[in-house]
Amino acid sequence: MRQKIVAGNWKMNTTVSQGIELINSIAAKIEEVPQDVKLIVNTPFTHLFPISKIIGDIKCPFCRSKIALGAQNCADKEVGAYTGEVSAKMLSSVASAVGTVAGAPEGAIGAPVEYVILGHSERRGYYGETNAILLEKINLALAEGLKVIYCVGEALEERKAEKHFEVVGNEIKEVLYQLTPEQMKNVIVAYEPIWAIGTGETATKEQAQEIHAFIRKTLEEKFGSLAEETSILYGGSCKPSNAKELFSQKDIDGGLIGGAALKAEDFIAIAKSY
Ligand code: 13P
Repeated sequence: MRQKIVAGNWKMNTTVSQGIELINSIAAKIEEVPQDVKLIVNTPFTHLFPISKIIGDIKCPFCRSKIALGAQNCADKEVGAYTGEVSAKMLSSVASAVGTVAGAPEGAIGAPVEYVILGHSERRGYYGETNAILLEKINLALAEGLKVIYCVGEALEERKAEKHFEVVGNEIKEVLYQLTPEQMKNVIVAYEPIWAIGTGETATKEQAQEIHAFIRKTLEEKFGSLAEETSILYGGSCKPSNAKELFSQKDIDGGLIGGAALKAEDFIAIAKSY
């Protein structure tokens, strides 16, 4: 059985206090999330530490197990003079630091930063992240024990020119095909057509299913039966009103949610769409 996932990508939204308010609202409703659905919140770097503590403090183990923390990027270098960068090791060190804060109870530990989004079209497009750079980042993230949410997707012109299979296929072959099966076990793929991100326009369930099936087949050609276990998420204007029909498709294992992840009611409603 593939893991069903509803992941929020907060992007560059919310101040730290707004982020704390948002995670508290999500935590307050987490009991409503079906048992077999995992929520992942991918927050800005500045928010990871307090949110790690808040998630770590969720008392009911059943509720705690339904939510995980992630980041939205990491550096393509391990350590050193790279001003402004945040390394995979820094991400994996967040949880254990929670217990070192003054006044923290003995043995206190936060929720680990378990996931990192890599290859988002906004990183590829605005910050020039190539497949080669992304492969470096993925290798470093996996080496630190993080799980990677690797994004692929085509632009509108590429879809119109019917090049979407080629574009997405290359994003998989140039990056994921370079991983070992052992590494690939810790990768989730997110298909996010660029024309559907933040535009209100969603891929139809047929369009989404078609390319998700293509992604799974492409993974199968390299990784065999592991492809059946790989979660493939849909992202792009996914909201409570369309989540159900998207998630009912055979090869869609959940969503990577932008705008609708910034409202606890919407995020939880999407998670309840299964
Ligand atoms: P929207 O849900 O706002 O379209 O964003 C999707 C996305 O880019 C998630 O990573």
